[in-house]
Amino acid sequence: MVGIDNLNDYYDTSLKQERLNMLQSYPSFAFRRANVEDQDTISQIFQSYMPSVVIHLAAQAGVRYSLKNPHAYIQSNIVGFLNIMEGCRQVQCEHLIYASSSSVYGANTAMPFSVRDNVDHPVSLYAATKKSNELMAHTYSHLYGLPTTGLRFFTVYGPWGRPDMALLTFTKAIVEGRPIQVYNEGKMKRDFTYIDDIVEAVVRLLPLKPAANPAWRKDRPDPGSSYAPYRVCNIGNNQPVDLLSFISILEEKLNRRAVKEFLPLQAGDVPETYAAVDELTELIHFSPATPIEVGISRFVDWYTEYYGVQYV
Ligand SMILES: NC(=O)c1ccc[n+]([C@@H]2O[C@H](COP(=O)([O-])OP(=O)(O)OC[C@H]3O[C@@H](n4cnc5c(N)ncnc54)[C@H](O)[C@@H]3O)[C@@H](O)[C@H]2O)c1
Repeated sequence: MVGIDNLNDYYDTSLKQERLNMLQSYPSFAFRRANVEDQDTISQIFQSYMPSVVIHLAAQAGVRYSLKNPHAYIQSNIVGFLNIMEGCRQVQCEHLIYASSSSVYGANTAMPFSVRDNVDHPVSLYAATKKSNELMAHTYSHLYGLPTTGLRFFTVYGPWGRPDMALLTFTKAIVEGRPIQVYNEGKMKRDFTYIDDIVEAVVRLLPLKPAANPAWRKDRPDPGSSYAPYRVCNIGNNQPVDLLSFISILEEKLNRRAVKEFLPLQAGDVPETYAAVDELTELIHFSPATPIEVGISRFVDWYTEYYGVQYV
């Protein structure tokens, strides 16, 4: 098994390195430091390892960063994605699983978000790159019969999570006694999904490569499947949480009050996400269900130990 990452400095590289150290303790795991944008290197890695299944998670993530650094998204998420698909095509990989995002639902407000909904109205370039990945995947499923599964992750959180996401930034600010920035005056809801549930779902999906859907009709196209070996899945908790409730739970676990600075909705952001997971449950007989209190508690335990916080 080989893992690829360029360990870029979008956030603290020591956190990335420590995650990697854990993986490298498995003798069957090999690591190649490489940029998915580098066509020749990625092609060589595919030729060397001939993977039968590929899980592609590397991307320039974050909605807000995409407002200031749009080119990074096209390079990592579009050029990089093409290189991964080309590698899969060259080695006739049996299944490409890749990270899409709940952000593809963009301006949609019909809840819960379903893979059967039209997702043609993204509100950030990040979302547009993820939707583009789904379109690109469909062409390779159609042209080369490459089985592809796109996973629309809904606000993943937990230990070792990204430091640019709300849970980390809020926790750090609360611990340091600084104000937290609460967007859309707090009128936000997120379908927070615990990391272990995401991992469980991905592992169960690995052997389940998509087949053509014989019921799919060209005169009434269902966006969630295809006549080609292609699918997209929501992976969310199916239980949206108010941002203010989320903050209260965090305050309780940290045993500290947050100082809240209320701000308008940020450009590129959406006020609510909520995943319909019927198709996922039918497919893998599992759907994420970790209660937010449990997930935040595990996160706070990790944060406290990792950053050596002494505050309770
Ligand atoms: N975390 C979430 O809530 C969430 C929600 C929806 C979708 N996603 C998607 O899930 C995937 C994983 O996200 P994450 O939150 O775990 O982020 P992460 O930052 O922990 O993981 C992404 C990894 O990709 C690597 N990477 C970035 N660009 C690269 C490049 N050009 N070449 C090689 N490596 C590169 C980074 O160094 C990083 O280690 C991403 O595709 C992200 O867009 C995440």
